[in-house]
Amino acid sequence: MTQSHKQSASDQPVYDYKTVKVEFEDGIAWVSLNRPEKKNAMSPTLNAEMYEVLDQLEFDPRCKILVLTGEGESFSAGMDLKEYFRETDGESAQFKSKIRGAAGAWQWRKLRFYPKPTIAMVNGWCFGGAFTPFIACDMAIAADEATFGLSEINWGIIPGGNVTRAMMELCGERAAMYYIMTGKTFGGKKAAEIGLVNESVPLAELRAQTRELAQLLMTKNPTVLRSAKHAARRVVGMDWDLAEEYLAAKAAQTQLNDEEKGRIEGMKQFLDDKTIRPGLEGYKRKVD
Ligand code: COA
Repeated sequence: MTQSHKQSASDQPVYDYKTVKVEFEDGIAWVSLNRPEKKNAMSPTLNAEMYEVLDQLEFDPRCKILVLTGEGESFSAGMDLKEYFRETDGESAQFKSKIRGAAGAWQWRKLRFYPKPTIAMVNGWCFGGAFTPFIACDMAIAADEATFGLSEINWGIIPGGNVTRAMMELCGERAAMYYIMTGKTFGGKKAAEIGLVNESVPLAELRAQTRELAQLLMTKNPTVLRSAKHAARRVVGMDWDLAEEYLAAKAAQTQLNDEEKGRIEGMKQFLDDKTIRPGLEGYKRKVD
């Protein structure tokens, strides 16, 4: 059963979940899939809890950047073959559709348009359905020692949850076909080489490297970051003329919504104060 969040005395949500762990560190929310004894396989309970966690963190000021990772030696071994698949096989189509929908709700729809920057930190085993949430994150860093695999072919299904589509777009046809059809595993370095993650570093440096990226993102204007990522995702399906028009409208909307007026401040610091060169650094923000 999903445990709903509680409010603490200071009125901040308490993340007390069975299958998800949340830790805060100077603006970073480290969110870990937390079933290490099952290699963090994603069960219906975990899916429901992750949705609640993400929902809650959207408005939690302690979370400026969200890092998604896994507890122990796994990122995630994908969908739970027992609880998510076999135990629901005999249920009605409507029930199954509800269970599938709850997985996609956080793994794809919620994460792809999350209002805060998201980084996937792939620390270990990463199979099948686990590709969905880490691809939906804005950026991804892997450990060299991580093991990726589209294992679906090994037990008689095709990669769903938009994994096939995402592989074709991110990695291109050759690599996508190869891994979809062979189920062969690959490490972090290969994942970086085929464009599945931004970079791969030794496991011992993974957390520090992820923290550094999160800290860089925290120096940027959060309103503009939100608009930039949403715009980038939305233009993909548009034709060029529509995308140009949409981006102009999005830029105007961003300025309207930007309470810290970053555009004016950035130009002032460069053109008047001469304290920054925006080609090389961001403007100094007065608020965080
Ligand atoms: N669904 C359900 N249970 C899973 C699971 C999954 N995707 N992945 C691992 N587990 C469970 C195992 O059944 C085992 O449970 P048990 O202790 O009750 O027997 C436990 O997690 C540990 O797994 P085990 O296979 O013993 O660990 P390992 O270190 O030898 O191997 C993996 C690790 C990840 C290589 C292996 O567990 C595996 O192949 N998992 C399935 C990966 C997969 O195909 N995922 C795609 C789903 S879409």
